[in-house]
Amino acid sequence: MKLLVTGGAGYIGSHAVQRLVRDGHEVTVVDSLVTGHRAAVDPSATLHELDLRDTPALTELMLATQPDAVLHFAALSIVGESVQQPLRYWDNNVGGAISLLSAMAAGGVERLIFSSTCSTYGEPERMPIREDAPQAPINTYGRTKLAVEGLIQDHAAARPGFSYAMLRYFNVAGCDRSGRLGEDHRPETHLVPIVLQAAAGLRDGVAIFGTDYDTPDGTCVRDYLHVDDLVAAHVCALERLRPGRGDALNLGVGRGYSVRELLAVAKRVTGVDFPVTEAPRRSGDVPVLYADPSRALVRLGWAPECSDLETILSSAWRWHQAHPEGYA
Ligand code: UFG
Repeated sequence: MKLLVTGGAGYIGSHAVQRLVRDGHEVTVVDSLVTGHRAAVDPSATLHELDLRDTPALTELMLATQPDAVLHFAALSIVGESVQQPLRYWDNNVGGAISLLSAMAAGGVERLIFSSTCSTYGEPERMPIREDAPQAPINTYGRTKLAVEGLIQDHAAARPGFSYAMLRYFNVAGCDRSGRLGEDHRPETHLVPIVLQAAAGLRDGVAIFGTDYDTPDGTCVRDYLHVDDLVAAHVCALERLRPGRGDALNLGVGRGYSVRELLAVAKRVTGVDFPVTEAPRRSGDVPVLYADPSRALVRLGWAPECSDLETILSSAWRWHQAHPEGYA
């Protein structure tokens, strides 16, 4: 297939591009490179350095490349930053999606895979989280992603042949097991890369944000999914798009691990007893989040294969050791 991938220079997008190229697809990447890395883009893909909000340029590209489907990863995704800079997040994430759908409509492109998030559920009352749980995000990032879900549904309702999958990611982590791609956010806020930077001696240690939550060990519980498993789910979703049909699917393993549990595995995997301190809660953090992934298991015929914490951490550790400066 001919595929257009937005955000293909980012952490998750670059892993997807590599897999799609290896599967024999012809891949065009659109990325502004504001947070993405040129070096992360598979050399077999064609990179266009472009802001999604540049609708005329995007439309021109859509008409020129005529993709069979679009995978839309590009977004700003740091929760704390989103609360500080709401206009930037709404403009980039929602404005970018409006522009993308306009360009797709102009080019007659009717198939879309969208990167959504468990952040759209806010603080759910019940665990595990099913797709029909109320969506009440508690931060700007989650609200922009929920707005794009609504936008896609409205767009699809007006176009009978349109098909889409909105994939609600839980905590994506780990690195490509072939060792070429990694996770390099600036600034880094995610637990796994922070822990490995501490193990590598690039940070003084790890601060646990909150040890007084109502959880078994007082720290937050999350559902960690290996990025290779996440990408595999996209491949399944792409194969199952059908005209006039749309779906929303949780992507997680269906079980949660606490911050302390993850730190213990990280110390074992790295062999480094890095310092750990206890810090106040980080604002916007939800105590417990884990998926009920059964809809994805059934409808996609997908199942996580490498999302145990050991594989997540050892794959990421290999990349961090080989790339102490990230992609720089
Ligand atoms: N944490 C620490 N210390 C750190 C970093 C994180 O204790 O230095 C804790 C957090 O407080 C949280 C857990 O580790 O309890 C995981 O934090 P991450 O920042 O790695 O990820 P989040 O759970 O905040 O992820 C959320 C959503 C994702 C979304 C992401 C956006 O679950 O869907 O924010 O960055 F994509």
